[in-house]
Amino acid sequence: MLLSRLGLVFFWAGILPRTALSTRSAATSSHPTRVIAGISVVDTAIVKAAEQFAIKHGSHAVYKHVMRSWLYGVLMIEANATLRDSIDLEVHAVSTLLHDVGWDKEDNSSVVSSDRRFEVDGAVAARTFIEGHDDGRHWEHRRVQLVWDAIALHTERSIAYFKESEVQVVSKGISMDFAGPLFGVSEDEYAVVEREFPKDDLKNEVNATLVWLCERKPATTYGELLGRNFLFNVLAC
Ligand SMILES: *[C@@H]1O[C@H](CO)[C@@H](O)[C@H](O)[C@H]1NC(C)=O
Ligand SMILES: *[C@@H]1O[C@H](CO)[C@@H](O)[C@H](O)[C@H]1NC(C)=O
Ligand SMILES: *[C@@H]1O[C@H](CO)[C@@H](O)[C@H](O)[C@H]1NC(C)=O
Repeated sequence: MLLSRLGLVFFWAGILPRTALSTRSAATSSHPTRVIAGISVVDTAIVKAAEQFAIKHGSHAVYKHVMRSWLYGVLMIEANATLRDSIDLEVHAVSTLLHDVGWDKEDNSSVVSSDRRFEVDGAVAARTFIEGHDDGRHWEHRRVQLVWDAIALHTERSIAYFKESEVQVVSKGISMDFAGPLFGVSEDEYAVVEREFPKDDLKNEVNATLVWLCERKPATTYGELLGRNFLFNVLAC
């Protein structure tokens, strides 16, 4: 009886599609990891490539912002058993790393449109990035959609905070870079991240980017981005 059950398990394991392996939760994940600022983070080929994509399509100040946002999100996940057991760490990492590629101020950047909000540019670029990334692991449609939603909605907290956990954590991790430690992250943990990726250039970079967006595509700057929460937080930081 036991043997036949084991046989069945091995049979199913053998024919399971690769995608089933890639959606395991944090708790049972066998993903490779690396340590940044004392924090263990997922370190798969697509996460490494997403970090390189962020470097290619953004300033050093924005790179440090996305790295801090990623690490704050990971600390938030670590502090909450429900999140630890359920969050898709690759979706969280790729979304956070790519959330600001719509801020690429290079002339004729391939990821910046003339007529869409920067959040949508980022979401579209991230989807194209995932679909074009071939490391032999297929991403289910739902995971790609979560990345799209997490990036497109990251400044719309009044919506993002009610969506899937991945979408919530991406938005909350980013917001901590402006608002300080929240969501179970301690002052000490927060300070370690900030020492690794200093925040001195964040305010000027955000200001310069908002000015650039207003000049370049003023019709896309309405909404919460230039509304009360975001701008006040930025200019107060
Ligand atoms: C942990 O995360 C879950 C899922 O997002 C949430 O419902 C719960 O309130 C969180 N717990 C704490 C203590 O923040
Ligand atoms: C950007 O595109 C415009 C219009 O196509 C072109 O005139 C300009 O030379 C391009 N700039 C760069 C840096 O490629
Ligand atoms: C933002 O940048 C503009 C244009 O360079 C500048 O005039 C303004 O003082 C800056 N605002 C802040 C709060 O840094």
